[in-house]
Amino acid sequence: MPTETPAGETGINDVVSIEINGSVGLIALDNPPVNAASHAIRSGLWQAVETLQQTDGVEVIALYAKGRTFIAGADIREFGKPPLDPWLPELCNFIESASTPIVCVLHGTTLGGGLEVAMSCHARVALTGSKVGLPEVTLGILPGAGGTQRAPRLAGIATALDMITSGKPMGADEALANGLIDRIAEGDPRDVALSSAKDLLAGDLPNRKTGDLTAEPDPAAIEAMRTKLAKSQPLLFSPHKCVDAVEACHLPVRDGMKEERRLYEECMASPQRAGLIHAFFSERAVTKIPEATATAREINSVGVIGGGTMGSGIATAILLAGLPVTLTERDQDGLDRGVATITRNLDGAVKRGKLSEAGRDDILAAKLGTSTDLGALSDADLVIEAVFEDMGVKRDIFQTLDKVCKAGTVLASNTSYLDINEIAATTSRPQDVIGLHFFSPAHVMRLLEVVVADKTGADVVATGFALARKLKKIAVRSGVCDGFIGNRIMTFYKKAADYMMMDGASPEQIDTAMRDFGFAMGPYQVADLAGLDISWAANKRRAATRPAEERYIPIADRLCENGWFGRKTGQGFYIYDDQGSRPNPEALAIIDAEREKAGVTPRSFTEDEIVSRFMTAMISEAVRVLEEGIALRPIDIDAVFLNGYGFPRFRGGPLHTADVIGAGELVRRIEEYAKEDAYYWKVPALLRQIAETGGTFAEMNAKG
Ligand code: 3HC
Ligand code: NAI
Repeated sequence: MPTETPAGETGINDVVSIEINGSVGLIALDNPPVNAASHAIRSGLWQAVETLQQTDGVEVIALYAKGRTFIAGADIREFGKPPLDPWLPELCNFIESASTPIVCVLHGTTLGGGLEVAMSCHARVALTGSKVGLPEVTLGILPGAGGTQRAPRLAGIATALDMITSGKPMGADEALANGLIDRIAEGDPRDVALSSAKDLLAGDLPNRKTGDLTAEPDPAAIEAMRTKLAKSQPLLFSPHKCVDAVEACHLPVRDGMKEERRLYEECMASPQRAGLIHAFFSERAVTKIPEATATAREINSVGVIGGGTMGSGIATAILLAGLPVTLTERDQDGLDRGVATITRNLDGAVKRGKLSEAGRDDILAAKLGTSTDLGALSDADLVIEAVFEDMGVKRDIFQTLDKVCKAGTVLASNTSYLDINEIAATTSRPQDVIGLHFFSPAHVMRLLEVVVADKTGADVVATGFALARKLKKIAVRSGVCDGFIGNRIMTFYKKAADYMMMDGASPEQIDTAMRDFGFAMGPYQVADLAGLDISWAANKRRAATRPAEERYIPIADRLCENGWFGRKTGQGFYIYDDQGSRPNPEALAIIDAEREKAGVTPRSFTEDEIVSRFMTAMISEAVRVLEEGIALRPIDIDAVFLNGYGFPRFRGGPLHTADVIGAGELVRRIEEYAKEDAYYWKVPALLRQIAETGGTFAEMNAKG
């Protein structure tokens, strides 16, 4: 049914319109925000091509999109729902076989199904600065609309393999050099569509059906990629299937696409696909917070207090985002150390091509200020405190900030565990106080927990989220509790690991099991990296209030008593030297001694049991964090673990994993483990309720 559209255009449906301009038939797509190839786009585009092919006088068709980008892929929200005709692969074949030549104009990010549509057109023009890519692998699938067959025909097998298995987009220049597009142009997509159509008609642009081309056989590239992926991504499913699909490109295009479809369906059915798509949406869901409509305060200058591990990383992240930073420390030595670390971090950014040398010099000369006096922060719009994890030190600092900072300065603490309400209460302006919990290294890690205290203003929360966007980080809203979302849950499941260590599993065995599950590092590697002294301090802080019923494992404390704090001291659970790392025999001796002292006869653990206990512990505390309202939704907890704790992305996060395991099975496990330790293993009420009603955490996410 034609719909109302701007002058000259005829609406095919709500999202596709056509326009006739002399011998050129223009097709415009308009499906905000990213022109995803939804059912309406697919059916509208099919109909538009059909209509223009049959229109007298139309000799060439030009396809372009309105808004911020050409098609950015299939509509991911339609995955898992009954498929609606026409499917994208059929549409691509239909476009390619059109009797009237079709040129498309790409702008923004032409991704996945968008690039597959483009590769089916007879010529491609990309606007300057635009990007193209096939990111399906990051969602656990493969390009399923001819991408694995047409990309090798245009760019060669080796380039297509790289692109498809990495999912990384490339700029228009690189796409041109690789033959994926035919030209780069400047201007408005409609204008370029019109001029490109005329060029195609005049023979100034190549007019080819990609499916008619052949890809030069390259068995060496295929073998090399298989070898590389076997090593780098042994746990992932879809990258290997991508290679199988590309290998089929020696077949005629329609036959190759049948093989591609078969492999695509396998990926679609894989639990990894569900996990990776959940991860994709989790990063976007976390921005939906009650304070989203508040206006963020303007941040043009930032003060960072403490130039240690975290302060220097936070300062680097902020400087790299283009904001000026004033760093304060206790003394000149502290400042010198902080500035040296920041300089090293910036040098690293230069090496990785993220920053020019001139950019680094400018930051150091003009954007980074230093002082040993908190008074230097009087004009800052935001101050982030990152001093020792000691309430007394933090209270002193916030009292001083209250006196010296201008009205409206956002006062943030990077504390890992301490009570933001207590910190806020030391000031006369608790509405301005918030937790901004960065993760180490702060200029690399993407997670930022925005910790909202009882009196934190909505605009201050919005400012925390706006800062995260500026720093290209993923902000997750957390309430106040000991350790907030992430560290609180980690503290709990770390105990499950310690109990297994005490009862017979070695740290290496536990680490290996969790790495095999997909974690970037096992819990003892993490502990050694973070510094055992940090948890030692927390253990001492909690000692006075630790309930008598709680089983306490002092093994890490014993290591600390020897001065073994992990990586930073060359040994902890592992030894670190020029030969890399290996289990520390002295740590193993301490474990044996502690077992003996406690009268524990060590038993053996299978990898499955280790994973089961570890994950069940993690999920049970995650559910309590949810019950208490510390996290807004299950998906927020998933986002924290995916972005801050090396949780395997293909498993979607702890509460997505809980749905995979099933609430009933989790309750059963907890009840079984509780027979040994009823204090530690308790079934959270919410988990029992979900198990009894047959619900899921996904349903809670959908309700928001
Ligand atoms: N389908 C459905 N919704 C999508 C989408 C898609 N392909 N891509 C983005 N969106 C949604 C987002 O969820 C978000 O929704 P929200 O506002 O309700 O949270 C909105 O569009 C805007 O997205 P972003 O916030 O991510 O916007 P950015 O400007 O930061 O990024 C982007 C734009 C680079 C296009 C990014 O969204 C992206 O990477 N999208 C996914 C691209 C992709 O993976 N495409 C392949 C899809 S699979 C496929 O094509 C299969 C085929 O081979 C058969
Ligand atoms: P650190 O010990 O490396 O650095 C702390 C710095 O603060 C030192 O350089 C010290 O000189 C300085 N400092 C102490 N008192 C000061 C004062 N009054 N004025 C100015 N500077 C002062 O500690 P780290 O690891 O950087 O931790 C800082 C904070 O960040 C702590 O609250 C910690 O819990 C938190 N945090 C730590 C993480 C980590 O992985 N190390 C991760 C996330 C948060």
